[in-house]
Amino acid sequence: MMSQHNHSDYTICWFRLTGTELIVYTVISFLAVLISYDRWKRRRFVLLADKLNGPKDYPIIGSALDFIGTPKQIYEHFTKLRDKYNHDLFKVWLGSSLYVVIRKPEDIQIILNSSNALKKGFIYKFLGKVLGKGLIIAPETTMDYNLDIQSDIGSEFMINGTKALELMSNRALTVWLYPDIIYFMYCKIFGLENAYKLTKKLPRLMTEKKKNEYAHNAIDKNTIETSENDDKKKRSKALVDLLLETNKVGGNLSNEDIIDEVLTIIGAGYETTTSTVGFCILLLAIDSDIQERVYDEIHSVLGDGNETITIEHTTKLVYMKQVINETLRLFPIAPLMLRELQADVTIISGNHTLPKGTACVISPMVTHFIPELYSNPELFNPDNFNADNVAKRHKYSFIPFSGGPRSCIGMKYALLNITVLLTQILRNFSVHTDLKFSDIKLKFNLTIKSVNGYPVTIRPRNSALVTS
Ligand code: HEM
Repeated sequence: MMSQHNHSDYTICWFRLTGTELIVYTVISFLAVLISYDRWKRRRFVLLADKLNGPKDYPIIGSALDFIGTPKQIYEHFTKLRDKYNHDLFKVWLGSSLYVVIRKPEDIQIILNSSNALKKGFIYKFLGKVLGKGLIIAPETTMDYNLDIQSDIGSEFMINGTKALELMSNRALTVWLYPDIIYFMYCKIFGLENAYKLTKKLPRLMTEKKKNEYAHNAIDKNTIETSENDDKKKRSKALVDLLLETNKVGGNLSNEDIIDEVLTIIGAGYETTTSTVGFCILLLAIDSDIQERVYDEIHSVLGDGNETITIEHTTKLVYMKQVINETLRLFPIAPLMLRELQADVTIISGNHTLPKGTACVISPMVTHFIPELYSNPELFNPDNFNADNVAKRHKYSFIPFSGGPRSCIGMKYALLNITVLLTQILRNFSVHTDLKFSDIKLKFNLTIKSVNGYPVTIRPRNSALVTS
């Protein structure tokens, strides 16, 4: 029952309200009905979610307020949650999206291999802008392009790629930036579109170059000849060639499709590989005993001379492999993976049923630090990866490249690349730093990075200091 007394006062069921109060109460009531209806509609989902532990959440926003901050603050908050829940399963509501952080290797195996969990979660849609609907050094060999990061275009790509990643990370953690239209306006207002556009410049150039070569028939059907090599050595085909050839046999890839694929490979391969090498060098500089052991192994496999490293040599660098794996355990460059459930999935822990629609968060930052899997998990100890210790652990205790059908397609290449890079550096130089392990601070931008970079001094073996 509502009546109006003067221009601004209303009476509703014996309550006299001003016009403003009426609007406020109407909006609040509307929201309350909307939230109740939403919870009722999703009651089974909410009921199953209520069985899980997690930080306090509020209507509409969930726990999103906790995730406002700098990349470093967000990283610290995540590790606090990890420690609070004692590395156990926990949930986080971001808006009306339910995220469940899965901890145990047995549960991770179930999720990563479930046919109901092949979808990577909607946040990956945001990444499409940076990664191409398909992050940068991916492999010159993969691209057949001399990717010079020191060049203008190379550094432009690096700077803008990093910026674009930060923007994506920020969006992923800012619920109100999820709707495309709001994000579009946000980017326009703050002039952010440019970073995304410039990230595509390099892949576009690579694709155009290759297309021109094709147009001028510079490329033989089955081989690619290196311009520097007069002996016309045959090489395996580069990615762009494969994509262009797919089109010849009925594939229907547009120019933008090809550019996206190229962006995916250089994007996914660059920061991951370079940061891992950076962390590895820093750790070796901190622990000179381990560095000497790595050097001795390189020396025993490759000798004194300048013998070119081959794949066979890399298989003999067993201790180096342990060091790389330990680096990836402590600093897994991709710290979060998401899988959106297409149907309910029951996991082993607590026999919990995770409802359809849940976004499962799998984080090496959680699993790699479980004390039952790695004693003294906060210490750098390559022996964690000697054959005996590896055999004692569940396969999914170590997941820097994810696992299952949607895992990293570049794993073998990345490991080979890192091994060769480290070998070339360490056989010629020793590395040194004033930092201690506890000085390494991380920040989170969808990938993890060292806040203070990798401050290392290098000295040629058997000679005086050259650079830092
Ligand atoms: C240390 C180096 C690297 C690490 C730690 C790493 C890690 C990862 C992880 C964790 C994923 C899976 C994300 C998920 O499950 O949601 C992934 C996916 C992917 N990686 Fe890597 N990666 C590395 C290097 C590379 C390289 C060198 C390439 C390319 C040459 C590459 C290409 C890809 C691609 C294309 C995907 C997407 C696969 C898919 O969605 O099915 N990565 N990477």
